[in-house]
Amino acid sequence: ERHPLKDRLGRPIRDLRISVTDRCNFRCSYCMPKEVFGDDYAFLPKQELLSFEEIHRLTRIFVSMGVKKIRLTGGEPLLRRGLPELVEKIFSVEGVEDVGLTTNGLLLKQHGPALYSAGLRRLNISLDALEPDLFGKLNGRGVSSSLILQNIDFAKELGFEIKVNMVVQKGVNEAEILPMAAYFKERGITLRFIEFMDVGNDNGWSFQKVVTKKEILEKLQSAFELEPVDQDYFGEVAKRYRYQGSDSQVGFITSVSESFCSSCTRARLSSDGKFYTCLFAVEGFDIRGLLRSGSDDAELLQAVSAVWERRSDRYSDERTEQTAKSRKKIGMSYIGG
Ligand code: GTP
Ligand code: 5AD
Ligand code: SF4
Ligand code: SF4
Repeated sequence: ERHPLKDRLGRPIRDLRISVTDRCNFRCSYCMPKEVFGDDYAFLPKQELLSFEEIHRLTRIFVSMGVKKIRLTGGEPLLRRGLPELVEKIFSVEGVEDVGLTTNGLLLKQHGPALYSAGLRRLNISLDALEPDLFGKLNGRGVSSSLILQNIDFAKELGFEIKVNMVVQKGVNEAEILPMAAYFKERGITLRFIEFMDVGNDNGWSFQKVVTKKEILEKLQSAFELEPVDQDYFGEVAKRYRYQGSDSQVGFITSVSESFCSSCTRARLSSDGKFYTCLFAVEGFDIRGLLRSGSDDAELLQAVSAVWERRSDRYSDERTEQTAKSRKKIGMSYIGG
Protein backbone atom coordinates (compact mmCIF):
# COMPACT_ATOMS: atom_id res chain seq x y z
CA GLU A 1 0.00 0.00 0.00
CA ARG A 2 1.42 3.32 -1.11
CA HIS A 3 -0.61 5.49 1.30
CA PRO A 4 -1.28 3.76 4.60
CA LEU A 5 -3.56 6.61 5.59
CA LYS A 6 -5.28 5.89 8.90
CA ASP A 7 -7.62 7.84 11.16
CA ARG A 8 -7.04 8.30 14.90
CA LEU A 9 -8.60 4.90 15.60
CA GLY A 10 -6.41 3.16 13.03
CA ARG A 11 -9.11 2.83 10.37
CA PRO A 12 -8.16 3.20 6.70
CA ILE A 13 -10.40 4.91 4.15
CA ARG A 14 -11.83 2.34 1.72
CA ASP A 15 -15.33 3.40 0.70
CA LEU A 16 -16.66 6.68 -0.57
CA ARG A 17 -20.40 7.31 -0.66
CA ILE A 18 -21.13 10.10 -3.10
CA SER A 19 -24.49 11.88 -2.95
CA VAL A 20 -25.38 13.23 -6.38
CA THR A 21 -28.56 15.11 -5.47
CA ASP A 22 -30.45 16.16 -2.34
CA ARG A 23 -33.83 15.69 -4.05
CA CYS A 24 -36.11 12.69 -3.92
CA ASN A 25 -39.41 11.65 -5.48
CA PHE A 26 -40.40 9.87 -2.23
CA ARG A 27 -41.10 11.30 1.20
CA CYS A 28 -40.25 8.52 3.63
CA SER A 29 -41.10 9.80 7.10
CA TYR A 30 -37.80 8.62 8.59
CA CYS A 31 -35.74 10.46 6.00
CA MET A 32 -37.62 13.34 4.30
CA PRO A 33 -40.77 13.93 6.34
CA LYS A 34 -43.40 15.84 4.33
CA GLU A 35 -43.81 18.44 7.05
CA VAL A 36 -40.16 19.43 6.59
CA PHE A 37 -39.67 18.72 2.88
CA GLY A 38 -42.79 20.47 1.58
CA ASP A 39 -43.56 22.26 -1.68
CA ASP A 40 -41.54 25.28 -0.67
CA TYR A 41 -38.48 23.43 0.60
CA ALA A 42 -35.30 24.99 -0.76
CA PHE A 43 -33.28 22.23 -2.39
CA LEU A 44 -29.79 23.01 -3.62
CA PRO A 45 -29.62 25.05 -6.82
CA LYS A 46 -27.77 23.39 -9.69
CA GLN A 47 -24.63 25.51 -9.46
CA GLU A 48 -24.13 24.38 -5.86
CA LEU A 49 -23.96 20.72 -6.89
CA LEU A 50 -20.59 19.23 -7.72
CA SER A 51 -20.27 18.82 -11.49
CA PHE A 52 -19.38 15.41 -12.92
CA GLU A 53 -15.97 16.82 -13.74
CA GLU A 54 -15.47 17.82 -10.09
CA ILE A 55 -16.68 14.43 -8.83
CA HIS A 56 -14.34 12.69 -11.26
CA ARG A 57 -11.39 14.72 -10.03
CA LEU A 58 -12.22 14.07 -6.38
CA THR A 59 -12.64 10.35 -7.08
CA ARG A 60 -9.06 10.23 -8.37
CA ILE A 61 -7.85 11.98 -5.25
CA PHE A 62 -9.79 9.71 -2.89
CA VAL A 63 -8.55 6.62 -4.72
CA SER A 64 -5.00 7.81 -4.16
CA MET A 65 -5.84 7.93 -0.42
CA GLY A 66 -6.99 4.30 -0.42
CA VAL A 67 -10.63 4.32 -1.58
CA LYS A 68 -11.59 1.26 -3.64
CA LYS A 69 -15.38 1.21 -3.42
CA ILE A 70 -17.67 3.95 -4.64
CA ARG A 71 -21.37 4.11 -3.86
CA LEU A 72 -23.65 6.63 -5.54
CA THR A 73 -26.55 7.84 -3.41
CA GLY A 74 -28.92 10.80 -3.06
CA GLY A 75 -31.62 11.79 -2.16
CA GLU A 76 -32.65 9.73 -5.13
CA PRO A 77 -29.64 9.45 -7.45
CA LEU A 78 -31.71 8.60 -10.53
CA LEU A 79 -33.03 12.16 -10.43
CA ARG A 80 -29.59 13.50 -11.35
CA ARG A 81 -29.50 14.18 -15.06
CA GLY A 82 -26.91 12.28 -17.09
CA LEU A 83 -25.97 9.87 -14.29
CA PRO A 84 -24.66 7.15 -16.68
CA GLU A 85 -22.02 9.58 -17.85
CA LEU A 86 -20.82 9.96 -14.26
CA VAL A 87 -20.75 6.18 -13.82
CA GLU A 88 -18.47 5.90 -16.86
CA LYS A 89 -16.18 8.62 -15.55
CA ILE A 90 -15.88 6.89 -12.17
CA PHE A 91 -15.12 3.51 -13.74
CA SER A 92 -12.38 5.16 -15.80
CA VAL A 93 -10.43 5.96 -12.62
CA GLU A 94 -7.72 3.39 -12.13
CA GLY A 95 -8.01 1.76 -8.71
CA VAL A 96 -11.81 1.85 -8.49
CA GLU A 97 -12.76 -1.77 -7.87
CA ASP A 98 -16.45 -1.52 -7.24
CA VAL A 99 -19.27 0.91 -7.96
CA GLY A 100 -22.76 0.53 -6.51
CA LEU A 101 -25.91 2.62 -6.55
CA THR A 102 -28.53 2.96 -3.81
CA THR A 103 -31.98 3.86 -5.16
CA ASN A 104 -35.70 3.69 -4.40
CA GLY A 105 -36.11 2.01 -7.79
CA LEU A 106 -38.93 4.17 -9.10
CA LEU A 107 -37.07 5.34 -12.20
CA LEU A 108 -35.26 2.13 -13.09
CA LYS A 109 -37.34 1.49 -16.22
CA GLN A 110 -36.12 4.80 -17.65
CA HIS A 111 -32.52 4.73 -16.48
CA GLY A 112 -31.59 1.08 -15.84
CA PRO A 113 -30.49 0.21 -19.39
CA ALA A 114 -28.16 3.22 -19.80
CA LEU A 115 -26.63 2.63 -16.36
CA TYR A 116 -25.95 -0.98 -17.24
CA SER A 117 -24.35 0.06 -20.52
CA ALA A 118 -22.18 2.50 -18.57
CA GLY A 119 -20.78 -0.44 -16.61
CA LEU A 120 -22.84 -0.37 -13.42
CA ARG A 121 -23.60 -3.86 -12.07
CA ARG A 122 -24.77 -3.42 -8.47
CA LEU A 123 -28.02 -1.93 -7.23
CA ASN A 124 -29.29 -1.63 -3.66
CA ILE A 125 -33.01 -0.94 -3.82
CA SER A 126 -35.02 0.32 -0.85
CA LEU A 127 -38.39 -1.28 -0.19
CA ASP A 128 -40.04 -1.22 3.23
CA ALA A 129 -43.25 -3.19 2.59
CA LEU A 130 -45.06 -5.36 0.04
CA GLU A 131 -48.55 -4.51 1.24
CA PRO A 132 -49.59 -1.79 -1.26
CA ASP A 133 -51.42 0.62 1.08
CA LEU A 134 -48.73 0.48 3.71
CA PHE A 135 -45.98 0.98 1.14
CA GLY A 136 -47.87 3.91 -0.38
CA LYS A 137 -48.07 5.50 3.05
CA LEU A 138 -44.43 4.82 3.91
CA ASN A 139 -43.09 6.38 0.70
CA GLY A 140 -45.29 9.41 1.30
CA ARG A 141 -46.33 9.58 -2.36
CA GLY A 142 -48.81 6.73 -2.68
CA VAL A 143 -46.50 4.82 -5.01
CA SER A 144 -47.51 1.18 -5.26
CA SER A 145 -45.11 -1.60 -4.29
CA SER A 146 -46.02 -3.48 -7.47
CA LEU A 147 -44.32 -0.78 -9.50
CA ILE A 148 -41.07 -1.19 -7.56
CA LEU A 149 -41.33 -4.99 -7.72
CA GLN A 150 -41.74 -4.83 -11.50
CA ASN A 151 -38.71 -2.56 -11.71
CA ILE A 152 -36.69 -4.97 -9.56
CA ASP A 153 -37.55 -7.82 -11.96
CA PHE A 154 -36.74 -5.58 -14.90
CA ALA A 155 -33.33 -4.65 -13.47
CA LYS A 156 -32.59 -8.28 -12.69
CA GLU A 157 -33.39 -9.18 -16.30
CA LEU A 158 -30.95 -6.52 -17.44
CA GLY A 159 -28.27 -8.35 -15.48
CA PHE A 160 -27.90 -6.24 -12.33
CA GLU A 161 -26.91 -7.83 -9.04
CA ILE A 162 -29.60 -6.60 -6.65
CA LYS A 163 -29.98 -6.27 -2.90
CA VAL A 164 -33.12 -4.96 -1.25
CA ASN A 165 -32.99 -2.75 1.85
CA MET A 166 -35.88 -2.75 4.31
CA VAL A 167 -35.88 -0.32 7.25
CA VAL A 168 -37.86 -1.97 10.05
CA GLN A 169 -39.81 0.25 12.44
CA LYS A 170 -41.65 -1.05 15.49
CA GLY A 171 -45.40 -1.01 15.11
CA VAL A 172 -45.09 0.14 11.50
CA ASN A 173 -43.90 -2.62 9.18
CA GLU A 174 -42.93 -5.58 11.39
CA ALA A 175 -45.77 -7.62 9.86
CA GLU A 176 -43.95 -7.30 6.54
CA ILE A 177 -40.80 -9.11 7.71
CA LEU A 178 -41.92 -12.64 6.84
CA PRO A 179 -43.74 -11.82 3.59
CA MET A 180 -40.73 -9.80 2.38
CA ALA A 181 -38.35 -12.61 3.35
CA ALA A 182 -40.40 -15.25 1.53
CA TYR A 183 -40.81 -13.09 -1.57
CA PHE A 184 -37.11 -12.33 -2.03
CA LYS A 185 -35.89 -15.76 -0.96
CA GLU A 186 -37.95 -17.17 -3.82
CA ARG A 187 -36.24 -14.79 -6.27
CA GLY A 188 -32.71 -15.29 -5.02
CA ILE A 189 -32.40 -11.62 -4.07
CA THR A 190 -30.66 -10.72 -0.80
CA LEU A 191 -32.97 -8.82 1.52
CA ARG A 192 -31.28 -6.76 4.21
CA PHE A 193 -33.12 -5.67 7.32
CA ILE A 194 -31.92 -2.28 8.53
CA GLU A 195 -32.35 -1.22 12.13
CA PHE A 196 -34.13 2.12 12.25
CA MET A 197 -31.54 4.83 12.97
CA ASP A 198 -31.64 8.31 14.48
CA VAL A 199 -30.40 10.04 11.37
CA GLY A 200 -31.17 13.74 10.98
CA ASN A 201 -33.01 15.71 13.62
CA ASP A 202 -36.66 15.19 12.84
CA ASN A 203 -37.34 11.55 12.11
CA GLY A 204 -39.04 10.78 15.45
CA TRP A 205 -36.50 8.17 16.45
CA SER A 206 -36.35 6.48 19.86
CA PHE A 207 -34.94 3.17 21.06
CA GLN A 208 -38.53 1.92 21.42
CA LYS A 209 -39.08 2.20 17.67
CA VAL A 210 -36.09 0.01 16.79
CA VAL A 211 -36.63 -3.63 15.91
CA THR A 212 -33.30 -5.29 16.56
CA LYS A 213 -31.51 -7.93 14.53
CA LYS A 214 -32.18 -10.40 17.35
CA GLU A 215 -35.94 -9.85 17.17
CA ILE A 216 -36.01 -10.06 13.37
CA LEU A 217 -33.85 -13.18 13.32
CA GLU A 218 -36.13 -14.90 15.85
CA LYS A 219 -39.12 -14.12 13.69
CA LEU A 220 -37.36 -15.47 10.59
CA GLN A 221 -36.33 -18.61 12.43
CA SER A 222 -39.97 -19.38 13.15
CA ALA A 223 -40.39 -19.93 9.42
CA PHE A 224 -36.93 -20.69 7.96
CA GLU A 225 -33.71 -22.52 8.80
CA LEU A 226 -30.83 -20.02 8.65
CA GLU A 227 -27.07 -20.40 8.93
CA PRO A 228 -24.54 -17.56 9.29
CA VAL A 229 -22.30 -16.71 6.32
CA ASP A 230 -18.73 -15.37 6.67
CA GLN A 231 -18.00 -11.72 5.91
CA ASP A 232 -17.10 -10.96 2.31
CA TYR A 233 -14.50 -8.37 3.23
CA PHE A 234 -13.19 -6.43 6.24
CA GLY A 235 -15.69 -3.79 7.27
CA GLU A 236 -18.69 -5.26 5.47
CA VAL A 237 -21.75 -3.51 6.90
CA ALA A 238 -24.28 -6.34 6.77
CA LYS A 239 -24.22 -9.57 8.77
CA ARG A 240 -25.49 -12.27 6.45
CA TYR A 241 -27.28 -15.62 6.76
CA ARG A 242 -28.13 -18.28 4.20
CA TYR A 243 -31.45 -20.08 3.97
CA GLN A 244 -30.58 -23.75 4.35
CA GLY A 245 -30.95 -25.72 1.15
CA SER A 246 -31.01 -22.57 -0.97
CA ASP A 247 -28.59 -20.02 -2.40
CA SER A 248 -30.63 -17.11 -1.10
CA GLN A 249 -29.39 -14.95 1.75
CA VAL A 250 -30.64 -12.33 4.19
CA GLY A 251 -28.62 -9.62 5.88
CA PHE A 252 -28.86 -7.37 8.92
CA ILE A 253 -27.56 -3.86 9.30
CA THR A 254 -27.23 -3.48 13.03
CA SER A 255 -26.20 0.10 13.51
CA VAL A 256 -28.15 0.27 16.79
CA SER A 257 -27.90 -3.13 18.50
CA GLU A 258 -24.38 -4.15 17.35
CA SER A 259 -22.59 -1.08 16.07
CA PHE A 260 -19.72 -1.54 13.65
CA CYS A 261 -17.75 1.69 14.07
CA SER A 262 -14.49 -0.05 14.93
CA SER A 263 -14.19 -1.29 11.34
CA CYS A 264 -15.79 1.72 9.67
CA THR A 265 -13.83 2.64 6.56
CA ARG A 266 -16.52 4.87 5.01
CA ALA A 267 -16.42 8.51 4.03
CA ARG A 268 -19.22 10.58 2.53
CA LEU A 269 -19.37 13.38 0.03
CA SER A 270 -22.53 15.49 -0.05
CA SER A 271 -23.94 16.71 -3.35
CA ASP A 272 -22.63 20.21 -2.63
CA GLY A 273 -19.13 18.97 -2.01
CA LYS A 274 -18.81 18.66 1.74
CA PHE A 275 -16.73 15.81 3.12
CA TYR A 276 -18.16 13.91 6.12
CA THR A 277 -16.31 11.32 8.14
CA CYS A 278 -19.46 9.84 9.75
CA LEU A 279 -23.14 9.39 8.88
CA PHE A 280 -23.89 11.19 12.13
CA ALA A 281 -21.38 13.98 11.72
CA VAL A 282 -22.30 17.43 12.88
CA GLU A 283 -20.13 19.26 10.39
CA GLY A 284 -18.54 18.60 7.03
CA PHE A 285 -15.34 19.87 5.45
CA ASP A 286 -15.94 22.14 2.46
CA ILE A 287 -14.01 20.58 -0.42
CA ARG A 288 -15.97 22.45 -3.08
CA GLY A 289 -14.62 25.72 -1.74
CA LEU A 290 -11.08 24.48 -2.32
CA LEU A 291 -11.94 23.06 -5.74
CA ARG A 292 -13.50 26.27 -6.92
CA SER A 293 -10.83 28.56 -5.56
CA GLY A 294 -8.21 26.89 -7.73
CA SER A 295 -6.45 24.43 -5.40
CA ASP A 296 -4.33 21.90 -7.23
CA ASP A 297 -4.55 18.13 -6.72
CA ALA A 298 -1.70 18.07 -4.21
CA GLU A 299 -3.38 20.71 -2.07
CA LEU A 300 -6.72 18.89 -2.19
CA LEU A 301 -5.09 15.60 -1.28
CA GLN A 302 -3.26 17.21 1.60
CA ALA A 303 -6.41 18.86 2.99
CA VAL A 304 -8.65 15.82 2.74
CA SER A 305 -6.00 13.46 4.13
CA ALA A 306 -5.59 15.75 7.11
CA VAL A 307 -9.34 15.55 7.81
CA TRP A 308 -9.24 11.73 7.68
CA GLU A 309 -6.19 11.61 9.94
CA ARG A 310 -8.06 13.69 12.54
CA ARG A 311 -11.13 11.45 12.38
CA SER A 312 -12.29 9.85 15.62
CA ASP A 313 -16.01 9.35 14.90
CA ARG A 314 -17.76 6.37 16.44
CA TYR A 315 -21.26 7.68 16.84
CA SER A 316 -23.16 4.38 16.84
CA ASP A 317 -20.87 3.02 19.56
CA GLU A 318 -21.71 6.01 21.72
CA ARG A 319 -25.42 6.46 20.94
CA THR A 320 -27.76 7.12 23.83
CA GLU A 321 -31.36 8.37 23.95
CA GLN A 322 -29.76 11.69 24.90
CA THR A 323 -27.29 12.02 22.00
CA ALA A 324 -30.04 10.94 19.58
CA LYS A 325 -32.10 13.91 20.72
CA SER A 326 -29.61 16.63 21.43
CA ARG A 327 -26.91 16.18 18.81
CA LYS A 328 -27.36 18.41 15.76
CA LYS A 329 -26.88 15.93 12.91
CA ILE A 330 -26.99 16.31 9.16
CA GLY A 331 -29.98 14.97 7.22
CA MET A 332 -30.01 11.49 5.67
CA SER A 333 -31.35 12.71 2.33
CA TYR A 334 -28.54 15.25 2.19
CA ILE A 335 -25.76 12.81 2.94
CA GLY A 336 -27.21 9.70 1.32
CA GLY A 337 -27.13 7.15 4.14
P1 GTP B 1 -22.86 -2.70 -0.04
O1 GTP B 1 -22.57 -3.51 1.17
O2 GTP B 1 -21.65 -2.30 -0.80
O3 GTP B 1 -23.88 -3.33 -0.93
O4 GTP B 1 -23.49 -1.30 0.40
P2 GTP B 1 -24.05 -0.74 1.77
O5 GTP B 1 -24.88 -1.73 2.46
O6 GTP B 1 -22.93 -0.18 2.55
O7 GTP B 1 -24.93 0.48 1.24
P3 GTP B 1 -26.47 0.89 1.34
O8 GTP B 1 -26.59 2.23 0.72
O9 GTP B 1 -27.35 -0.17 0.78
O10 GTP B 1 -26.72 1.03 2.87
C1 GTP B 1 -27.53 0.20 3.61
C2 GTP B 1 -27.78 0.78 4.99
O11 GTP B 1 -26.61 0.74 5.75
C3 GTP B 1 -28.27 2.24 4.98
O12 GTP B 1 -29.31 2.40 5.91
C4 GTP B 1 -27.05 2.98 5.41
O13 GTP B 1 -27.40 4.16 6.07
C5 GTP B 1 -26.42 1.99 6.36
N1 GTP B 1 -25.00 2.26 6.46
C6 GTP B 1 -24.07 2.15 5.47
N2 GTP B 1 -22.88 2.52 5.94
C7 GTP B 1 -23.06 2.87 7.23
C8 GTP B 1 -22.21 3.36 8.24
O14 GTP B 1 -21.02 3.55 8.04
N3 GTP B 1 -22.75 3.64 9.46
C9 GTP B 1 -24.05 3.45 9.69
N4 GTP B 1 -24.49 3.73 10.92
N5 GTP B 1 -24.90 2.99 8.78
C10 GTP B 1 -24.41 2.71 7.56
N1 5AD C 1 -32.65 4.42 9.50
C1 5AD C 1 -32.19 3.36 8.79
N2 5AD C 1 -32.06 3.37 7.45
C2 5AD C 1 -32.44 4.47 6.81
N3 5AD C 1 -32.46 4.76 5.49
C3 5AD C 1 -32.91 6.03 5.34
N4 5AD C 1 -33.21 6.57 6.54
C4 5AD C 1 -32.94 5.60 7.47
C5 5AD C 1 -33.04 5.54 8.89
N5 5AD C 1 -33.51 6.55 9.62
C6 5AD C 1 -32.07 3.81 4.44
C7 5AD C 1 -32.89 3.88 3.19
C8 5AD C 1 -31.96 3.30 2.16
C9 5AD C 1 -30.57 3.50 2.73
C10 5AD C 1 -29.66 4.35 1.94
O1 5AD C 1 -30.78 4.11 3.99
O2 5AD C 1 -34.06 3.14 3.26
O3 5AD C 1 -32.17 1.93 1.97
FE1 SF4 D 1 -35.98 9.22 -0.73
FE2 SF4 D 1 -34.51 7.14 0.05
FE3 SF4 D 1 -34.96 9.18 1.72
FE4 SF4 D 1 -36.98 7.57 1.09
S1 SF4 D 1 -35.10 6.99 2.20
S2 SF4 D 1 -37.04 9.82 1.14
S3 SF4 D 1 -36.48 7.06 -1.02
S4 SF4 D 1 -33.80 9.28 -0.17
FE1 SF4 E 1 -18.97 4.77 10.68
FE2 SF4 E 1 -20.17 6.78 11.93
FE3 SF4 E 1 -21.58 4.68 11.04
FE4 SF4 E 1 -19.92 4.43 13.15
S1 SF4 E 1 -21.77 5.67 13.05
S2 SF4 E 1 -20.14 3.01 11.45
S3 SF4 E 1 -18.25 5.82 12.54
S4 SF4 E 1 -20.46 6.17 9.80
